[in-house]
Amino acid sequence: MQFILGLLVVGYCFSVSFGQNCSIPPLVLPLQNTTFADGIAVNRGIQLLLGGQLMGLRPSLIQNNTRVRNERDCPNDEVGFSKCQGESGGVYIIKDTFKAVPPSKWNVTRLDQHPQDATITFGYDVAEFEGTSAVIPQLPIEIWSNANAANKSELALGPSSSFLSQLVEHSWAATRNFGLYYGSRSQNRGHDGQLTIGGIDTARFNASTLAEFPMSGYGAATECPLQVMIADVVLTNSEGNFSLFRDPGARVPACVDTIQNAFTFTKTMFDEWARLTRHIDFDGSNYTSQTYPADRETFLGSLTIKLANGYTSTIPHYELVSNERGPDSRGKYTVTNSSRVMAAVQTGQGDLGVDIPLLGGVFLSQNYLRVDYDQGKFWLAQAYTSPSITSKVSSICTASSSTTSGSPPGSSGSNSDLGLKVGLPVAFVVVALCVFGWWLFKHHAKPPKNDDDGRITHFRSAFTFSGTRRAATVGRNDWVGSAPGRKRSELETTEKPSQLHAVGKGYEEVDSRRVSELHNDGVVAELETPMSSPRL
Ligand SMILES: *[C@@H]1O[C@H](CO)[C@@H](O)[C@H](O)[C@H]1NC(C)=O
Ligand SMILES: *[C@@H]1O[C@H](CO)[C@@H](O)[C@H](O)[C@H]1NC(C)=O
Ligand SMILES: *[C@@H]1O[C@H](CO)[C@@H](O)[C@H](O)[C@H]1NC(C)=O
Ligand SMILES: *[C@@H]1O[C@H](CO)[C@@H](O)[C@H](O)[C@H]1NC(C)=O
Ligand SMILES: *[C@@H]1O[C@H](CO)[C@@H](O)[C@H](O)[C@H]1NC(C)=O
Ligand SMILES: *[C@@H]1O[C@H](CO)[C@@H](O)[C@H](O)[C@H]1NC(C)=O
Ligand SMILES: *[C@@H]1O[C@H](CO)[C@@H](O)[C@H](O)[C@H]1NC(C)=O
Ligand SMILES: *[C@@H]1O[C@H](CO)[C@@H](O)[C@H](O)[C@H]1NC(C)=O
Repeated sequence: MQFILGLLVVGYCFSVSFGQNCSIPPLVLPLQNTTFADGIAVNRGIQLLLGGQLMGLRPSLIQNNTRVRNERDCPNDEVGFSKCQGESGGVYIIKDTFKAVPPSKWNVTRLDQHPQDATITFGYDVAEFEGTSAVIPQLPIEIWSNANAANKSELALGPSSSFLSQLVEHSWAATRNFGLYYGSRSQNRGHDGQLTIGGIDTARFNASTLAEFPMSGYGAATECPLQVMIADVVLTNSEGNFSLFRDPGARVPACVDTIQNAFTFTKTMFDEWARLTRHIDFDGSNYTSQTYPADRETFLGSLTIKLANGYTSTIPHYELVSNERGPDSRGKYTVTNSSRVMAAVQTGQGDLGVDIPLLGGVFLSQNYLRVDYDQGKFWLAQAYTSPSITSKVSSICTASSSTTSGSPPGSSGSNSDLGLKVGLPVAFVVVALCVFGWWLFKHHAKPPKNDDDGRITHFRSAFTFSGTRRAATVGRNDWVGSAPGRKRSELETTEKPSQLHAVGKGYEEVDSRRVSELHNDGVVAELETPMSSPRL
């Protein structure tokens, strides 16, 4: 009886909340080198033809709309052009396949924030994805025509990604959820990565190391959806283990993003790194903050990143260190001085255009990433990095929300925010009902037997937990809700990670949506704040 009731409720929930077509298989796109027409410029990214023009776009986990660099931006000389094209991930020539529209008529869910002085043409062009039959007839794109920090061409995988929405709209993917294996840009062990939209590659990660994170959960000083709280970074070299944290109680929020390969650390952490690795600026020739004489390599060992929820990842030496690389005299990216080594660690303004700690491609080379914006969560798990692994793609098609599609022209942004507020009480009742039904159902259903199902269930169970979490946290958000707009104290900044459960537990106590609302009102977290005030 209970079982039947459970089945009915679950069936209802699936048919009501999950309108998507789960028989559409995931779309798999390699993250690979693209060689441009001149045979010299090479770029690593997602390959596509945009209005017939070859691009190798770096994925961005922040931007909502795909941007490409106007070809007119690049220098006219051959070398300058190759360098510009390679660095930018492809450049775009406005031709007649491009349909320009005024920004107010541009049909996207969310206009990204832009610097005041940016020169952008908004419009659409047809996008085809190499090695698949996927075509997006009108992919929204921004054409950027100025050489400022945000000058890179990027494929948008952000929370309101029009690229992901278009794939779902045109039935090339069942959901906007994705899994990402970054692969590697290591000098000697570089290999392709893989983006799986609407699914994950279960052969690429160790499911027992899976850790769950709330979206925008840690008050990073910039608006990035995938945030983690760093609890320690340990350098292991020929002399032992050394923390880059002078204050062992410090907590540093950081963004996880694919736009940049290297790590970006705070000034304090970087100074410690430079000291421990015996960095020098000058010995007759000049060194950048990332380059060293080759004999310092022994001090540049491996790095272990420890997150506040217990998740830990070790970045091997071959990912962290290479010979000095950059564009050569023809503009081709290659080793430029083999008497020097170069570390994938920097500080200051990175490719995001802001000075914020960032865990980029080198970090993701060791960590499989799964993102589900509809559930407001993401996951990291230790990646299996052997290039010879055969991928095993599984569809993940259970959770969804109706706020994914584009709003009518001219109303970008405000509409979906409103939808969220109005929809929340209703959503709560539906979710509570669904969770109850699922509980009844689960208690009378057989557990999955084989290993692979087990892994998927691990991810799927996140849905169940998300409902439970919401139910359990409504009404107990006093520490977040009591003083909106108040500048968070040092204690609050450092308290948050301790409210997270350890790795392996299914949920957090922090309601991610409430937390991100708090952080979006411009509150900037203090970096490197002590865990508790010094004793008097
Ligand atoms: C779901 O997708 C499958 C495969 O693409 C297709 O054959 C089927 O017609 C679709 N069903 C619906 C209801 O759209
Ligand atoms: C992308 O959309 C989200 C809402 O889904 C918004 O919070 C964020 O600010 C947007 N990103 C940018 C760069 O504007
Ligand atoms: C992009 O902008 C940065 C920072 O302004 C600059 O250093 C870099 O040369 C630019 N890249 C290209 C390809 O113009
Ligand atoms: C991609 O290109 C770079 C630069 O030419 C090269 O070092 C790297 O080995 C290439 N990666 C792969 C997987 O071929
Ligand atoms: C460094 O740390 C690792 C892992 O915690 C440990 O196995 C190793 O023994 C340590 N090495 C030294 C020299 O302390
Ligand atoms: C090193 O850098 C300084 C300051 O930028 C410059 O004046 C000097 O010429 C450089 N020396 C060499 C050997 O490149
Ligand atoms: C390569 O690096 C070495 C050591 O820093 C330096 O002496 C040499 O001048 C560099 N060569 C070039 C071509 O820059
Ligand atoms: C805007 O986009 C949505 C979703 O992609 C679509 O349903 C709608 O028809 C589009 N509107 C216009 C005017 O193109």
